[in-house]
Amino acid sequence: MPLPTAELHLHIEGTLEPELAFALAERNGVTLPYADTAALREAYRFSDLQSFLDLYYALMTVLRTPEDFTALADAYLERAAAQGVRHAEIFFDPQAHTSRGVPIGTVVEGLSASLDRAEERYGISTRLILCFLRDESAESALATLEAAKPYLDRITGVGLDSAEVGHPPAKFRAVYEEAARLGLRRVAHAGEEGPASYVREALDVLGVERIDHGLRCMEDPELVERLVRERIPLTLCPLSNVRLRVIDTLADHPLRAMLDAGLRVTVNSDDPAYFGGYVGDNYDGVRDALGLGEEQLRTLARHSFEAAFLDDDEPRRARYLAEVEAHTF
Ligand code: ADE
Ligand code: ZN
Repeated sequence: MPLPTAELHLHIEGTLEPELAFALAERNGVTLPYADTAALREAYRFSDLQSFLDLYYALMTVLRTPEDFTALADAYLERAAAQGVRHAEIFFDPQAHTSRGVPIGTVVEGLSASLDRAEERYGISTRLILCFLRDESAESALATLEAAKPYLDRITGVGLDSAEVGHPPAKFRAVYEEAARLGLRRVAHAGEEGPASYVREALDVLGVERIDHGLRCMEDPELVERLVRERIPLTLCPLSNVRLRVIDTLADHPLRAMLDAGLRVTVNSDDPAYFGGYVGDNYDGVRDALGLGEEQLRTLARHSFEAAFLDDDEPRRARYLAEVEAHTF
């Protein structure tokens, strides 16, 4: 039995495996510039975040209909369940679809058709988090939130992703203010490729409750102290950090040092189809590379459920936490 965990940092478009990409391309009459799945996999050698994003946005053009998004989420949930995921807070990038003529309703309704059955089929509770692309304008983010208003009953929160450097959190002050007014939870990617100051800014200007990645906070001891004091969860994605060259090898990952510092770190898969593994593979990777023991692994899983947006269902959180305590390695 895998360690039960909540996955809090997962881009649904980043779960598009080559086999499904080719199947959807054929169904939708899209020609991919790769001969086959092996040739596509060959392209998964990234030099930085941007080199990954270029392929990520190109490949998701095969997603056109609500059924495509349903199939995408079903495939993720099945793999996630096999790796111990009990609760998933799923990011999606509406602007990457609306910009090519796919309405936000197609995306939300397609994903929801899968998520509505996730508990019964896969034993996974779910939430949806709408992410703004930070390399698009603040006006585009506001228009996206406006377009999402008919679907807010299905959306728990907002996030901020895509190319980080040069797009500081403060650019999105107005849209996060509006999101707060609408009662949405707030998270943001910060301190992945960008500096520690972006983490601070995401907290101070955007009012985020969790930081996605955040590993560069380790360059700023005062910030670390604050994150510990304020119990801010950080959603780490170890295999992603290696594949996007944020660090050289898993053995160089600061996760262990972050745990030792008292940070509320969690383990997640980010874009598992591209980075060589789902959440259990990320746990196994850091366990082996950093020599984590059972109590440290249990702490990581406990953090994930404590950091989950389950405030509307505390009995469920308590059940998940009890599963973590009862787990035998
Ligand atoms: N979009 C998908 N994956 C991402 C990541 N790791 N960082 C920023 N934006 C992303
Ligand atoms: Zn991410």
